[in-house]
Amino acid sequence: MTVNEQRRIAVRSTVERIRNIEATHGVTRTGLEQIELQLRELAGHSDWFTENEFPAPEQESEDTSFVYRISEDPQDNRFALYIQSARAPTNTPAHNHHTWAAITGIRGDELNRFYRRSNGGVEVVGSHVVRPGSGVSFLPDDLHSIHITDNEAVINFHMYGLGLEYLTDREYYHAGSGSWKVFKDRSNIVDAGYVSQ
Ligand SMILES: [Fe+2]
Repeated sequence: MTVNEQRRIAVRSTVERIRNIEATHGVTRTGLEQIELQLRELAGHSDWFTENEFPAPEQESEDTSFVYRISEDPQDNRFALYIQSARAPTNTPAHNHHTWAAITGIRGDELNRFYRRSNGGVEVVGSHVVRPGSGVSFLPDDLHSIHITDNEAVINFHMYGLGLEYLTDREYYHAGSGSWKVFKDRSNIVDAGYVSQ
């Protein structure tokens, strides 16, 4: 079996187990912990998800991250699994997803800050550095932000209950104006469906 075939089987069976976890536990903290565990195990095969195959944008580029879509259910766009390859300076505002989300580390450090709503804005309530062997997960209304200071590619799995293009009402807190806004469509999604097909 080639390496690509091994990877394809592992990705497909991971997604299948995640479908089953959601079916059993619904969108709950318990279910998300198990989903995160599945993704951490897959992320352990870092030789399958290299910077060479999934590069971050060049230093000259305005974009600092690409999200490579490696799996998504074709009939309803659910269970969307991406490899995010990002470099410094990456700083997102605090935002929610309106679906569940899980992030696990493959290479490098991604600082996640956690927030709660406070006085119309947000207040930091914690943080976690996602790196190989660790992860974070979020219920649909949970808030987080992402910060990357490494000039080398930082590579992580980002998985969502629904594909990013369909999360059209994700909100983020715009600190400059002190108001909540809606995320615009992401243009930096790269189709890498060959990984699971
Ligand atoms: Fe997010």
